[in-house]
Amino acid sequence: MALIQETDFGTPARPSEHLVTLSIDGRTLQAAEGTSVMRAAAEAGIAIPKLCATDSLEPFGSCRLCLVEIDGRRGTPASCTTPVAEGMTVRTQTDRLAALRKGVMELYISDHPLDCLTCPANGGCELQDMAGVVGLRDVRYGFKGANHLDQPKDQSNPYFTFDPSKCIVCSRCVRACAETQGTFALTIDGRGFASKVAAGAGDFMNSECVSCGACVQACPTATLMEKSVIAQGQPEHSVITTCAYCGVGCSFKAEMQGDRVVRMVPLKDGGANEGHSCVKGRFAWGYATHKDRMTKPMIRERVTDPWREVSWDEAIAYSARQFKDIQRRHGRGAIGGITSSRCTNEEVYAVQKMIRAAFGNNNVDTCARVCHSPTGYGLKQTFGTSAGTQDFKSVAKADVILLIGANPTDGHPVFASRLKKRLRQGAQLLVVDPRRIDLVRGPHVRAAAHLPLRPGTNVAMINALAHVIVTEGLVDQPFVKERCDPRDFIRWENFIADLRHAPETVEAVTGVPAEDVRRAARLYAGAANGAIYYGLGVTEHSQGSTMVMAMANLAMATGNIGRDGVGVNPLRGQNNVQGSCDMGSFPHEFTGYRHVSDEATRRLFEIDWGIGLDGEPGLRIPNMFDAAIEGSFKGLFVQGEDIAQSDPNTHHVSAALEALELLVVQDLFLNETATFAHVFLPGTSFLEKDGTFTNAERRINRVRPVMAPRSGKQEWQVVSELAGALGYPMSWPNAAGIMDEIARLTPTFQGVSFAKLDRLGSVQWPCNEASPEGTPIMHRDGFVRGKGRFMITEFVPTEERASRFFPLILTTGRILSQYNVGAQTRRTDNVQWHPEDLLEIHPHDAEERGIRDGDSVSLASRVGATSLRAVISERMPQGVVYTTFHHPITGANVVTTDYSDWATNCPEYKVTAVQVTRSNHPSDWQRLRRETDPLRRRVLAPDTAAE
Ligand code: SF4
Ligand code: SF4
Ligand code: SF4
Ligand code: FES
Repeated sequence: MALIQETDFGTPARPSEHLVTLSIDGRTLQAAEGTSVMRAAAEAGIAIPKLCATDSLEPFGSCRLCLVEIDGRRGTPASCTTPVAEGMTVRTQTDRLAALRKGVMELYISDHPLDCLTCPANGGCELQDMAGVVGLRDVRYGFKGANHLDQPKDQSNPYFTFDPSKCIVCSRCVRACAETQGTFALTIDGRGFASKVAAGAGDFMNSECVSCGACVQACPTATLMEKSVIAQGQPEHSVITTCAYCGVGCSFKAEMQGDRVVRMVPLKDGGANEGHSCVKGRFAWGYATHKDRMTKPMIRERVTDPWREVSWDEAIAYSARQFKDIQRRHGRGAIGGITSSRCTNEEVYAVQKMIRAAFGNNNVDTCARVCHSPTGYGLKQTFGTSAGTQDFKSVAKADVILLIGANPTDGHPVFASRLKKRLRQGAQLLVVDPRRIDLVRGPHVRAAAHLPLRPGTNVAMINALAHVIVTEGLVDQPFVKERCDPRDFIRWENFIADLRHAPETVEAVTGVPAEDVRRAARLYAGAANGAIYYGLGVTEHSQGSTMVMAMANLAMATGNIGRDGVGVNPLRGQNNVQGSCDMGSFPHEFTGYRHVSDEATRRLFEIDWGIGLDGEPGLRIPNMFDAAIEGSFKGLFVQGEDIAQSDPNTHHVSAALEALELLVVQDLFLNETATFAHVFLPGTSFLEKDGTFTNAERRINRVRPVMAPRSGKQEWQVVSELAGALGYPMSWPNAAGIMDEIARLTPTFQGVSFAKLDRLGSVQWPCNEASPEGTPIMHRDGFVRGKGRFMITEFVPTEERASRFFPLILTTGRILSQYNVGAQTRRTDNVQWHPEDLLEIHPHDAEERGIRDGDSVSLASRVGATSLRAVISERMPQGVVYTTFHHPITGANVVTTDYSDWATNCPEYKVTAVQVTRSNHPSDWQRLRRETDPLRRRVLAPDTAAE
């Protein structure tokens, strides 16, 4: 294995159908119109020296190293800023050019430390390379003149350093921060000799920097450098794999020394990220080798006993024996399992197969239940496919973007960078969110409208938008006529035209001025391309499914489906939430969303799996909890999901887990759920996994192991062995064999194989005979279900209401540096940005309660209470408070309720009536958590203590 070197063509591609013919160094070649001479040369294998140019950034033309001679042109133009022209004759290597380049390099090196041998960039420094390329031997100016060599390093960022003594002021970092990331944290201060890179007025850590690392990647010297490279040295080989955090699904090169990761570098060819990343994927991978990792199987008969490390054989035999015993005493349906959206498709597939074939029931559900299950339901009803319609690239063609209940700069940062780029090009943004998220007003970004609706009124709002479109004659009639079911449309049109949906009527419910709603509706409907993007602020409501269908109605009514720049696009939460749903994790569906009661489908699986299967849907997660408390559900297998922290109404979840006779947890750490477990099966981190993740754009990406499983086994192997011990042998030669089985049994995956993924990089399903290389944009010529189906979306207010005792509404979300329940990110330096969950509260609400910024407050709902510190923030509308749920000590879900989506049971995390009061004491809940913190309560027998 070698280090994968991606060619840097110097300037971005300029796709064009028009080719021009030119000659470079005597070679005749063709290049697309608009391409730079530098790129045209690089595409033909001719390297022109460069320093300030790189192909992820627009050309800048500052270093003067890339000069060329062009017949008929005066002087020596910079090849990075000169576009190709028909008949152009270019020379890249002449004596004059060599002398000029040497002169440029002499100037740079005269003001540069001469510590190449001990420099961390040694072997990976473009300045060093260029000194070699131009044949620099002497520096006529000497090294004693005025220089920048004694400037102090900025070490404030936990992941990278800034050493200005090595800076050549090429501005690549400044441009990367602006063009690629869209944060504009860096500037060049001063002029001429005094010019220098500045991160605001202070250091990086106290600037606007979000630590995405784009500047570090762009820097051609050791000025901006990963601390991991400084500590470990340059990597020697790399493996392409996929980030295991969010549903963007960024591709990375894991750059390695042996089996140690040195750094993660986003892959330029990555379909989802095209060379960009956020702080989590690029830097927060240290959890994989954290000392808290559990690497040995453990069992205990009672949860009050200490854990006992055992062999794999014993752990598997014990689990199988206990599961079988429960079934013997309480029936086949008394056990079940939960699959994880953090795991690979192959691992998820193995667990659901074990449950259906070895447990003999359909009691399988997935953590998608608590996030995007309404997406699956709503899009299937209206379009026929339980997935988003576009690829991420599509946003570059959108003219108006309707962003609902999503905060991409925190939740889906790499998509946010694409979105911001499009907004800087002139697209308009409409934000529907109670909270004033960063995209409402940020650097070089300003939303055309922010509709700060009251939590729980999404459906009223979208119906009002649709009402305007229908009653003001903005419906795309030809599209509806050609593509949608006419009877459903007429029914919907009559429904939505009713005055009860008019913005003026709905204003009292949503709190948003009618005129703002009308303006937003006209803007979206009038766009050449209108795109909807949404997140958990849509789905995690009692009407989550209704809202998804309402958005689909809106897109169909305006003809915004089936081409680039449009669509209805869920921003999926976890890395493989799309995949875990695709893999048959729901109790009513086999892979590819086919109902278990469908005879033909069931027969297909029965023949392939060689066993009879249950045609009745099994229990959903909330049903499992209820049945456990009621006493009919006794055994649970949980794959990589901390349900005790992530699911709503923590007291209820804890009671259910306590009632189980057997809880088997397969995970990396002894998490909150493991507090209740009897068997712990150590899992694998993404750096050890072999398989695939499917991101929010249906893109199947390869996850390749860069190190051996620390537990000694892949998770799917453990599951296969458990199924075998239960009496149903499951065996595959490798993860590729599991994908072959998935492809054999799933029409949308028909053409997928590891070999194809290795060849193409990634594939977006459906991938079959009709689309052998996948389908970036869905529903191009017709909906998957045939005619698009308009659904009636009556607004039904949630039963969770503010009251005299609980007058505020709590809504929850994520922050950039942390992820989900924080199990991974809390074990990295990301804690430096968000060491605790905070409660954002409007100044008026705070003043009424005598709360000052930073005060400890009690947060109480009808079901529980916790305490945390308050931050006074005008981002919140009055009457609404907000927090994250990344830290178990806060246990934000102790206050969230059992209300859930009517169709899918997705919990209503986004609406909880609460009271907030000043308090200097931890809640009873927190006192209990401190006493029972699993990290502290990890009672291992003394002779088996883990590392
Ligand atoms: S820090 Fe690096 S990228 Fe930025 S100006 Fe200096 S040398 Fe160029
Ligand atoms: S790390 Fe990212 S946000 Fe921070 S300065 Fe560099 S490019 Fe900008
Ligand atoms: S945007 Fe998501 S997938 Fe990409 S690097 Fe960040 S966390 Fe990973
Ligand atoms: S690479 Fe062209 S001017 Fe710097």
